[in-house]
Amino acid sequence: MTPGPKRLREASWQPQRTGVSNILLLGGTGFVGRAVCDKLVERSGGSGGPVTVPSRQPQRAKAIQLLPTIQLHKADIHDEATLTRLVAGRDAVINLVATLHGSEAELQRVHVELPRKLARACLATGVRRVVHVSALGAAEGAPSRYLRTKAQGEAVLRDAGLALTVLRPSVIFGAEDRFLNLFAKLQALFPVMPLACADARFQPVWVNDVAQAIVTALDRHDSIGHTYECVGPRVYTLADLVRMAGRWSGHERPVVALPAALGRLQAMLMEWLPGEPLMSRDNMDSMQVANVASGAAPGLEALGIAPTAIQSVMAPWLAGVGEATRLDVWRRGAGRA
Ligand SMILES: NC(=O)c1ccc[n+]([C@@H]2O[C@H](COP(=O)([O-])OP(=O)(O)OC[C@H]3O[C@@H](n4cnc5c(N)ncnc54)[C@H](OP(=O)(O)O)[C@@H]3O)[C@@H](O)[C@H]2O)c1
Repeated sequence: MTPGPKRLREASWQPQRTGVSNILLLGGTGFVGRAVCDKLVERSGGSGGPVTVPSRQPQRAKAIQLLPTIQLHKADIHDEATLTRLVAGRDAVINLVATLHGSEAELQRVHVELPRKLARACLATGVRRVVHVSALGAAEGAPSRYLRTKAQGEAVLRDAGLALTVLRPSVIFGAEDRFLNLFAKLQALFPVMPLACADARFQPVWVNDVAQAIVTALDRHDSIGHTYECVGPRVYTLADLVRMAGRWSGHERPVVALPAALGRLQAMLMEWLPGEPLMSRDNMDSMQVANVASGAAPGLEALGIAPTAIQSVMAPWLAGVGEATRLDVWRRGAGRA
């Protein structure tokens, strides 16, 4: 078979020096991004090339600010000229930018338009290597806007003929997650847990395993052109996960599975409250499809990573989580906060 232009371009990419070291990390201030920063610093022994992390609010990214080789900058990455300047001269780009909530226009801007601008910036500057984090279940015909726009973003980068690796994680757990930690805190405060989509299935994966997969993929030429499904060793329902968070934090409450219509009403109310909603109607739509490995793509094992069990990380971490929340409520009630 004669290789097409895409194949030729992919084959021509080679890591510079012994490894990829001058890296642009988009979304590096987030939950996964912070773990990726740690892994990249670990990988270089703290004396590798620069890892540039643009952010809208760098002052909020204290955890990575002090790490050696991490260069945090305030920048608007949606501005194509700025993005192109940031991409120029890199060995590789890692893209973790995403938003779980927002209008159709915002999801398009973040999940589709940004990858399109990134692809153009890469082609204009001759930077070929991109590792892109998508989401398990991303598909053009998926039931939620989040998953559909994630699929469109992947397609944009694939069509650009870059030396691309895509990773698709299931829900990600870790010390700083906004998922199990929140369910633990809620159970410390409330006597029951009314839960929409209680039967939705997930295969949770540890944030450090995802971060290791990103860094390993970056270093491995044979990951180019592949999509990896990043999942943990076991499948759980949402109700299982909520119960585990309650048990490990010492506040297990009865889970009351809400019928679909009531769940939707609950999600709609949460969308109206200030701050990030715990659950939106679009999240409920995402949960219509099981968030588990399809078996059609390689997993973490193909990158030499043995997935970590959720209880080994989260049981010790969640012990006592929620106590502070409860004490704060009591303090406020007593007028002492
Ligand atoms: N967490 C999970 O359970 C999970 C599951 C599956 C897939 N994923 C995927 O993993 C990746 C990382 O997720 P995460 O949990 O680390 O996300 P996160 O904590 O919400 O971080 C998102 C990052 O993206 C940046 N960002 C968000 N909205 C932006 C916007 N409108 N313009 C520019 N930058 C924006 C933020 O940067 P600043 O605020 O500093 O500008 C932040 O660094 C995403 O692609 C996500 O879809 C996550």
